[in-house]
Amino acid sequence: MSIHGEIKRVTTHTLQSMKQQGEKISMLTAYDFSMARILDDSGIDVLLVGDSASNVMAGHETTLPITLDQMIYHAQSVIRACQRCLVIVDLPFGSYQGNSKEALISAIRIMKEAGAHGIKLEGGEEVAESIKRITGAGVPVMGHLGLTPQSIYKFGTYAVRAKEEEEAEILLHNANKLQEAGCFSLVLEKIPASLGARVAKELTIPVIGIGAGMHVDGQVLVMHDMLGITKDFSPRFLRRYLNLYDEIGDATKRFIKDVKDRDFPNEGEQY
Ligand code: KIV
Repeated sequence: MSIHGEIKRVTTHTLQSMKQQGEKISMLTAYDFSMARILDDSGIDVLLVGDSASNVMAGHETTLPITLDQMIYHAQSVIRACQRCLVIVDLPFGSYQGNSKEALISAIRIMKEAGAHGIKLEGGEEVAESIKRITGAGVPVMGHLGLTPQSIYKFGTYAVRAKEEEEAEILLHNANKLQEAGCFSLVLEKIPASLGARVAKELTIPVIGIGAGMHVDGQVLVMHDMLGITKDFSPRFLRRYLNLYDEIGDATKRFIKDVKDRDFPNEGEQY
């Protein structure tokens, strides 16, 4: 709490101090008001309105179809729920790759229309100019390297990235370029733990991993995976804290039965 009694917000500076003090950063994805409120209330440091909304909310096979307008809709719902955590929003595929001006316009729309606290985008040196332009306008940028789902058709597989030394060196080079360009933080997805450790040690900005091992500065999971709402996705890096797919299914079956048996509503549940 601050001296005024209101809840103290997590900022990009908070994350930087956490790295310096060795406190791990917790981050989850969120896409709607009700879930974001629970996660924020539970003390999560960062919520990411991820373009994984394309998969878990809209049912697409990849993250590519989701639009900037749809991301803004999800971000507005999440922002309304959050009092404490830092809320970062993904720039979706096609909203920033054209040129740095397009990237800036997209980032500004997210900041203005959703009230986000920063944006995330995927890629290495090739997006450095856009990062400079966006941060130059005062918008915090989180980078994303390793498995970058927006490039899935270029790589053709969701396998672990940068296992070979040559690819690992390229990733390290790109991580440094993103830091130099002004990123306040970096997500590393599905890379060897030893490489995650190297990047986190070499960079001064916080490095948050998803399948990047235990030596990075924080961990992120997709909320639907962590809660077991998704069923068929079981990469090694995923720890499921609940099995909501089955629990929600059981509750639904009980509700159906109660309705069919004329058990619901009972005397006390009607006017
Ligand atoms: O969109 C997303 O959920 C992400 C996380 C995997 C980091 O980018």
